[in-house]
Amino acid sequence: MIEAVKKQDATIVVIFGAVGDLSKRKLAPALYNLFLDNWLPKNFALLGVSHHEHDDNSLRELLKGGIEEFSRRGIVDEKKLEEFLDCIYYVRADFTDPEAYGKLSGKVDRLEESWKMKSQKVFYLSVAPKFIEPIAENLKSSGLAADKKRARIVVEKPFGKDLESAKELNKKLSNSFEESQIYRIDHYLGKETIQNILAFRFANAIFEPLWNRNYIDNVQITVAEDVGVEHRGNYYDHSGALKDMIQNHLLQILCMVALEPPVTYIADDIRNRKVDVLHSVRKFIPDEIEENAIRGQYAAGEIKGKEVVGYRESPRVDPESNTETFVALKLLVDNWRWKGVPFYLRTGKSMKRKSSTITIEFKPVSHQLFPCNISHASTSNLLIIHIQPEMGIKLCFQAKEPGLEMNVQPVEMSFNYSDSYDGGTPEAYETLLLDVIEGDATLFMRADEIEAAWSLIMPILNHWQGTKADDFPNYAAGSWGPKKAMDLLKKEGRNWVIETFLDKK
Ligand code: BG6
Repeated sequence: MIEAVKKQDATIVVIFGAVGDLSKRKLAPALYNLFLDNWLPKNFALLGVSHHEHDDNSLRELLKGGIEEFSRRGIVDEKKLEEFLDCIYYVRADFTDPEAYGKLSGKVDRLEESWKMKSQKVFYLSVAPKFIEPIAENLKSSGLAADKKRARIVVEKPFGKDLESAKELNKKLSNSFEESQIYRIDHYLGKETIQNILAFRFANAIFEPLWNRNYIDNVQITVAEDVGVEHRGNYYDHSGALKDMIQNHLLQILCMVALEPPVTYIADDIRNRKVDVLHSVRKFIPDEIEENAIRGQYAAGEIKGKEVVGYRESPRVDPESNTETFVALKLLVDNWRWKGVPFYLRTGKSMKRKSSTITIEFKPVSHQLFPCNISHASTSNLLIIHIQPEMGIKLCFQAKEPGLEMNVQPVEMSFNYSDSYDGGTPEAYETLLLDVIEGDATLFMRADEIEAAWSLIMPILNHWQGTKADDFPNYAAGSWGPKKAMDLLKKEGRNWVIETFLDKK
């Protein structure tokens, strides 16, 4: 019933930067899939805005190409696709020109007249950071975002380039929009498997009692990519893995694993608990950085049997670049639940394989009962949450191998999305766009959350920007990263558990 009411709302999604990569690869396919599944209201329009020379038809053609290539289900239904494309319009405009917003308003008015109703509006900023402020200001002064309950602005990453610029951006946005209207995207939060962490922890009685320092030895979060920097050298060489991945995606995953039970599944309850985690992470003092924060940069190597060039040889990358393409961190969360449990975070480009996983390694049994010479009974229990590309959860425990000896060996119990569910899994952008349309900010970052994440990485960022990494490049493309990242765990008697699992396959 609630859904039906919501769907009667006329909705206009305005994409600034509509002819860009994100719009073609992610936004148009996501909206098309929502349209196919009847999630969008009857009165719906997508207004593409950019300064490029285009018209309604050419934008429709461009986005159709994106849907053909990137929609998770392909086209499925030609008639439906045509209906969807008919909802798309183009407004050619310079983002900084106030007159452009008059043009946009005119288009909005005409649509509303034809629908005979006012619409709610989503302004999606898929633009270079320098345009965020002028767009927000012009949306305010043109009156396009006047209805505070029904106008929302979506801001893509990077949200600032350091703590100061993020604060500045938050301040500027708050001059034109209320916090409840601002949706800061981290697409990882839209992934099914990330959302499932909360369900796993709080919809089951059996795991949460173990979810603390008494039972958990350490937590490992790996987001490994098997692609390099590709055509994004220009952006990436000014960013690096710490800002591009750790500040947002990996810290968000850490929050989902470590947060205290929220009272309700309401945006601010959950976001408050996430901010608590970020505030509890111990900040590095300069002397601790070298030991606990490892950076890497890939050299040439081989991935899936194909030779790939090193980072410094990639297009639009400085041949002497100091930018890290790999980061491994040891973080400590100083609160009642996690005191003393290390959280190891790791991400890198051009690694051995694409794999994002969370591994929870439990403490060993307190007393060893079975003979060690013939069994692996001392192996710790593991809980492995596969985020992507494999999606599922594995629990590794010990069992007696059938036979005449008491031979205890590790076995696995698995839940796999593909075996358990029919039908496809929505893409992160489908979930997130629908949430914005419905005004649900649970999976988006609040101003204080973004700032807390930046302030956590600032000591590392400052240290790395101020010191040249003389061992770069220090890992071969196609490996699991620099040796120092292995040593980070080895010196504490641990190892990156997931590698053994994946390499076994
Ligand atoms: C983006 C980063 O936010 O996330 C990219 O800018 C990275 O560098 C990408 O490749 C990874 O996203 P996913 O969904 O492919 O894991």
